[in-house]
Amino acid sequence: MNNFSSRTLWRFGYSARLLKTNHFRTAASNTSFPAVWILSAQYSGRIPGLFLVVKKNRFFTMPETVEDKANLELYSPHPEVRGMTLLDREAFKRTVVVPVLKVKKEIVNTVLKSLKHTVLQRPGLKRVAEDPEDGDSRLVILDPHKIPGFSLGESEQEILKELNVCPEVSKYNLELTYENFKSEEILRAVLPEGQEVTSGFSRVGHIAHLNLRDHQLPYRHLIGQVIIDKNPGITCVVNKTNIIDSTYRNFQMEVLAGEGNLITKVKENNIAYELDFSKVYWNPRLSTEHSRIVELLKPSDVLFDVFAGIGPFAIPAAKKKCHVFANDLNPESYNWLLHNCKLNKVDNKIKAFNMDGRDFLLGPVREELSKELPLLKEEPKTSFHIVMNLPALAIEFLDVFRHLLVGEPCSTAGLPMVHCYGFSKHDDPAKDIQERAEASLGTSLDGRCSTHLVRNVAPNKEMLCISFQIPADVLYKRPCPDEGKPASKRLRASKDSSEEKLLS
Ligand SMILES: C[S@@+](CC[C@H](N)C(=O)[O-])C[C@H]1O[C@@H](n2cnc3c(N)ncnc32)[C@H](O)[C@@H]1O
Repeated sequence: MNNFSSRTLWRFGYSARLLKTNHFRTAASNTSFPAVWILSAQYSGRIPGLFLVVKKNRFFTMPETVEDKANLELYSPHPEVRGMTLLDREAFKRTVVVPVLKVKKEIVNTVLKSLKHTVLQRPGLKRVAEDPEDGDSRLVILDPHKIPGFSLGESEQEILKELNVCPEVSKYNLELTYENFKSEEILRAVLPEGQEVTSGFSRVGHIAHLNLRDHQLPYRHLIGQVIIDKNPGITCVVNKTNIIDSTYRNFQMEVLAGEGNLITKVKENNIAYELDFSKVYWNPRLSTEHSRIVELLKPSDVLFDVFAGIGPFAIPAAKKKCHVFANDLNPESYNWLLHNCKLNKVDNKIKAFNMDGRDFLLGPVREELSKELPLLKEEPKTSFHIVMNLPALAIEFLDVFRHLLVGEPCSTAGLPMVHCYGFSKHDDPAKDIQERAEASLGTSLDGRCSTHLVRNVAPNKEMLCISFQIPADVLYKRPCPDEGKPASKRLRASKDSSEEKLLS
């Protein structure tokens, strides 16, 4: 027997599969042994974490072993945690059997690198254990899922041969604790079997925001605590308790775990904002849309933000040296908008308003447009943009543009560009949004608008942005006698009688 001696075998054992045969060979030495080794699943007391292979003078066939079954469930916490509602971290402990490779301590790092796909990776788990029998060696813990039957594949054996390491693996009793399981594994073990488990959340500063289903509610405090434990930086978990339908687009929430402080700091596209998450609207999924719109703006352009929230369009636009008029009906949003303008040192670039969007358009926006539009030259350097991000309602506000500038000198140069958001559950959401915008404006937008899919909000519900330059006929035309009719009827009429013509 060469360097892989019977003593080594005694100390580190063999896989159950190998032990089932009457004779087996070690991959390293090609030496044949009579199958007279019994794997004892008992903890020896002498070598913590190691199974002993004991020489006996009789043949032995392995039964369906406990450890094989345990390996299949390697990534599940202890089964007794099922149904737990108050988090008891100790109860998650379990011992599983994993393969280990004995390696001289000087080359542990090289082996870890070379076998990185085979080494066991678990949160908070060291990949190397002390060898209780040999201070000069270490035990590299391998992933049993990667080496079925506890025997290394040919490629791993090749690697080890080059490193002059014996490729024999032994079995090791590994204790897994709460720290070594991922949130999803923990929740899957706790929640009723077969029920959907979610460990997904949106993050707003230090707050994790969940939207739990009914069957998850009995476990909500535990879910909250697991999220705090597993996500550094999260110190508060809230669950939405109603559908977002309040005027101000914020929602009621229950604090499930952690501190109750809902004033937080977020960063979006490199700009810092502070907000009270329980009182204002903030959606981290809109950052791309915010930057998409801001990229359309040039310095010295004018932005009217009708439903501004705490300023995620307005503040980056002001930082880009645009002139900004930002409005929100929610007094809390308005106050945080002012706060964030100061925080980002753009308070001299933004005029903030706290009024209904309709009044804002009919008041400050109208006033500014009537003052500035007539001054524009043929190819104006300044563009006017109106952002309307209130997807549940904004399209209904578009009728405000009808006749908005009647009586003012008509200027077709630099007509304002509108970016209006809407939800659609229609098969053809772009067509749906366009038709609704046309109905509100009372004119066709065919060939003069574009729609952009912002995000999928729910199954079969999209959020879109329709952008168009407000047609001069909409802004400057005097009301028709049938103007009092509902918008939808007016649109049909206007479509039937062909497109309305520009008034001079
Ligand atoms: C969907 S949020 C958008 C906020 C921000 N623009 C953003 O992109 O994150 C809509 C905002 O419109 C405000 N709002 C709701 N109804 C309004 C109205 N009638 N007039 C003005 N603002 C309104 C809400 O308070 C909320 O801040």
